Amino acid sequence: MDEQETELPPHVLIIPYPAQGHVNPMLKLAELLCHGGIHVTFIVTDYIHGRLLRHSTIVQSHLASYSGFRFEIISDGLPKDDPRSGDKVGELFRSFRVTAKPLLRELLRSDPVRDSDSGRKRISCIIADGAMSIATDVGEEIGIPVIFFRTTSACYFWAFFCGPKLIESGEIPFQGNDMDVPIKSIPGTDGFLRRRDLPSYYRVSDVADQNLQAIMSETLQTTRARGMIINTFDELEGPILAEARLQCPQIYTVGPLHAHLKVRLTSKVTSNSLWEEDMTCMTWLDVQPAKSVIYVSFGSITMMTNDQVMEFWHGLVNSGKRFLWVIRPDSVIGKDWEKHLSTEILKGTKERGCIVGWAPQEEVLVHKSIGGFLTHSGWNSTLESIVAGVPMICWPYFGDQQINSRFVGEVWKLGLDMKDTCDRVIIEKTVRDLMDGKGEEFQESSDQMAKLAKKAITEGGSSYCNLDCLIRDIRLMV
Ligand code: UDX
Repeated sequence: MDEQETELPPHVLIIPYPAQGHVNPMLKLAELLCHGGIHVTFIVTDYIHGRLLRHSTIVQSHLASYSGFRFEIISDGLPKDDPRSGDKVGELFRSFRVTAKPLLRELLRSDPVRDSDSGRKRISCIIADGAMSIATDVGEEIGIPVIFFRTTSACYFWAFFCGPKLIESGEIPFQGNDMDVPIKSIPGTDGFLRRRDLPSYYRVSDVADQNLQAIMSETLQTTRARGMIINTFDELEGPILAEARLQCPQIYTVGPLHAHLKVRLTSKVTSNSLWEEDMTCMTWLDVQPAKSVIYVSFGSITMMTNDQVMEFWHGLVNSGKRFLWVIRPDSVIGKDWEKHLSTEILKGTKERGCIVGWAPQEEVLVHKSIGGFLTHSGWNSTLESIVAGVPMICWPYFGDQQINSRFVGEVWKLGLDMKDTCDRVIIEKTVRDLMDGKGEEFQESSDQMAKLAKKAITEGGSSYCNLDCLIRDIRLMV
């Protein structure tokens, strides 16, 4: 290492899994690291990069303003026009891993930034999505330490880390159809998890299932890494984290990252959305009474059938509550709903309902008119709702969402879990229960949890200190 190089900041390579829910928090972490004086090379796929350029302000302004930040663009291996949502998620997972590994190796081996004129040190640490164990293969080969970043909850991680125990004890695969049987082999969960609350990948008839094996194997590789960053906070997932810390390397809980970033940065945080945000919903919200609106959004991957959309539509309208509903243009199989909904809106529910293709969600959730969030329980949405102190109705679609929603409903008491149903009568009743019946109770626990979240990211708080620790440890890796 030459003298000039030693004076430069450490240089980290970040590799997210290429989906909104993963890229989003990893860009936030990248920004926090840049702010902490670390150089970052951030790998994105051409698909994601194209969308960021089109729809987000972050590329043009914020991150670009850090001299130490740059994107490295690679392919995800899928044809350009293929969808990356719904049942294509598994295909993307496999394809990206196969494509990314040699590119990562090549990038690190040739490490163009070793050129002393580049003003960067050689890469001394890789921060890889928890689903990208290929990074540990390459890191070990080249001799660069890897830290995993789990963009999902600690409880989801832990449910897979305990996978071998679940299989050994005979709890997986499920015997019989009763989905309410309690699960016993996950330490720290005290019997409140039922079969239906396990990550959806456990709903298999054979443990050799390709997706289950892939996720379990990825999760068990955590012990190969130098550490693991989780976008959560100790006060939220304490008992699970206590168990995980007995088994795993250094765990840095630094979340909720979207709020942590706002605390550390003095300037306004910009959007890193992959869809164009329809700001008209903010004007609509401005004229609604305080806490009167339920915000409905199922994230960036969920796909729905026409029938499901119609059940939600009737449930929401019949509840008599105001609603702001995000229906992503590519999220419904079939198009009949569009015709039907526009007729219904014209028939007189317009002042009570607003539908957009993509909303500025973080802003929506802190708007004074929002009183509840009907969510698919994606982890980012859950954290954003927690920070905003908004009670939730959970309608999990897949993956981690099944377990997140159980914690929301049963453990943290922040709302109601509506999993495994899609019925207009239940939707109507649950919306009323959240907004009226049990509203105060949920609002109280949501306010308390929001306070804990804010404390964690304030100077001296658990996540604030852990981020400082992470930056210190990265500096020691040179
Ligand atoms: C995926 C998985 O599906 C999820 O289960 C996992 O926890 C993370 O990765 P996604 O389904 O997109 O993510 O959900 P979520 O984690 O909630 O992330 C969605 C992000 O998109 C949030 O940050 C949210 O603020 C943003 N969003 C969503 C918008 O900005 N506007 C919208 O209209 C909807």
